[in-house]
Amino acid sequence: MSNQEKLHQKLAKAQLGGGQHRIDSQHGKGKLTARERVHLLLDDGSFEEIGALVTHRTTDFDMQKQVFYGDGVVTGYGTIAGRLVYVFAQDFTVFGGSLSETHAEKICKIMDAALKVGAPLIGLNDSGGARIQEGVRSLGGYADIFYRNVQASGVIPQLSAIMGPCAGGAVYSPAMTDFTIMVENTSYMFVTGPNVVKTVTNEEVTSEELGGASAHSTKSGVTHLTAANDVVCIQKLKRLISYLPQNCEEKPAALPYVLGDELRDQLESIVPESANQPYDMREVITGIIDANSFMEIHEDYADNIVVGFARLAGRSIGIVANQPMSLAGVLDVDSSKKAARFTRTCDCFNVPLLVLVDVPGFLPGTDQEWNGIITNGAKLLYALSEATVPRVTLITRKAYGGAYDVMNSKHIGADMNFAWPGAEIAVMGAKGASEIIFRKEIKAADDQAAKLAEKEQEYGETFANPYRAAERGFIDEVILPKDSRRKLIRSFAMLEHKVVDRPRRKHGNIPL
Ligand code: HXC
Repeated sequence: MSNQEKLHQKLAKAQLGGGQHRIDSQHGKGKLTARERVHLLLDDGSFEEIGALVTHRTTDFDMQKQVFYGDGVVTGYGTIAGRLVYVFAQDFTVFGGSLSETHAEKICKIMDAALKVGAPLIGLNDSGGARIQEGVRSLGGYADIFYRNVQASGVIPQLSAIMGPCAGGAVYSPAMTDFTIMVENTSYMFVTGPNVVKTVTNEEVTSEELGGASAHSTKSGVTHLTAANDVVCIQKLKRLISYLPQNCEEKPAALPYVLGDELRDQLESIVPESANQPYDMREVITGIIDANSFMEIHEDYADNIVVGFARLAGRSIGIVANQPMSLAGVLDVDSSKKAARFTRTCDCFNVPLLVLVDVPGFLPGTDQEWNGIITNGAKLLYALSEATVPRVTLITRKAYGGAYDVMNSKHIGADMNFAWPGAEIAVMGAKGASEIIFRKEIKAADDQAAKLAEKEQEYGETFANPYRAAERGFIDEVILPKDSRRKLIRSFAMLEHKVVDRPRRKHGNIPL
């Protein structure tokens, strides 16, 4: 056999992973193979594989008799829309994609390369966890990956797709990356599976109920995105990466954009007459941004706040917006955590922030207090205060109490603060305020209800408007809704070269 034939034979064997019958079984579950996923993810012909001929070194349990090229993970680099990315894709057809010492070494090798070069890392996870035959060597391999996830955090974007099992300590690598996306019905994530849960807590639960895409997108917030199948999952990864830069030293690439649609009349009729009536903040977002550019993150989790990426005149921006349609848009434990995490993700990758405000305050109650609304609300306050990216605020309606301060107020470093003419910026709503400060007067009145209404109106005229804040300079400009897009485009363009120096320190101590 010639040298060339020998090489071709080995590479052809590597292409087959665990063999055709296991590939068929993978397809039978509605899943693509690791190689098919990589090829879908990357530009045609751009994939360069690294370590296709790596094999494991284990001899325990006669493992030398079962050797597959690649050792259960396909690794390498390629491009997405012409941009360099590093990829690893676990190959379930080889020992269930389980992680051996050499499998981990392959992943670490491309993590190191991605960090050195400054390019995003995308992990496609589909694994039965630690290679059981390798014991602690496998656990060490996981820790080597975890360590690198942390070193790379905030330096290069790290994206994790869960496209099969991801259990035990293995979940902690995706958890430390910037984004996790799960495929519906074919993936799950949990620290301990249904059998252990049954033994320890006597709960009966399926893998899907315990840690499927639905559980983690609605209940735990562990996953940022979900996808109906592998193909949609890969499409979403590609879209997500388009909003992010290569690394923390760069800005996200702007798309070419021809202006001409800055005035948006539809914004004039979104906020209802009555301050207590809900409306969909997504309509405001759509009214402001470039057409079809919104990619919502954590869509089904803590839906009293909306976060996601969009484009404004071609520029990538991150949006944090109260959602009056859910719980009147209050801040609570989960929405504060969600918004804080998104804020920090945008800040570390130089994505400017637009904060849309319609917030009646923080959610009261024992549940909230005992679950730490103090610490969790502080996360959002802290995250926004420390963000150095361009930060612009638009108050569409209510900005009450502490939540006014938290939601990117001027006082915590926002660069431009706008309000619509109907905005109410006050310590609390007119009714609540009147009941407290005019209590004696109301009690003494013959017609208490009429007195309360009169005082409510008086308070409303005095404080429930944007002008007191504008007089102080806390609001830079009161603008008409239809003019918002133009004002925001100009603000972000003006702030493009913003530079902020922070005091020297090791790192801040965000309340976790
Ligand atoms: C070695 C494994 C394996 C593993 C699966 N395989 N998991 N080999 N180590 N962890 C092999 C199987 O032997 C089988 O080999 C092939 O992969 C496919 O597995 P099946 O069981 O046939 O597939 P399926 O029915 O789809 O079930 C998938 C599964 C199941 C649910 C993942 O395989 C499973 O429960 N595996 C064990 C999971 C586990 O307990 N892992 C350790 C968790 S602790 P053949 O030759 O038949 O194709 C952990 C700690 C990490 O991960 C700690 C980090 C700090």
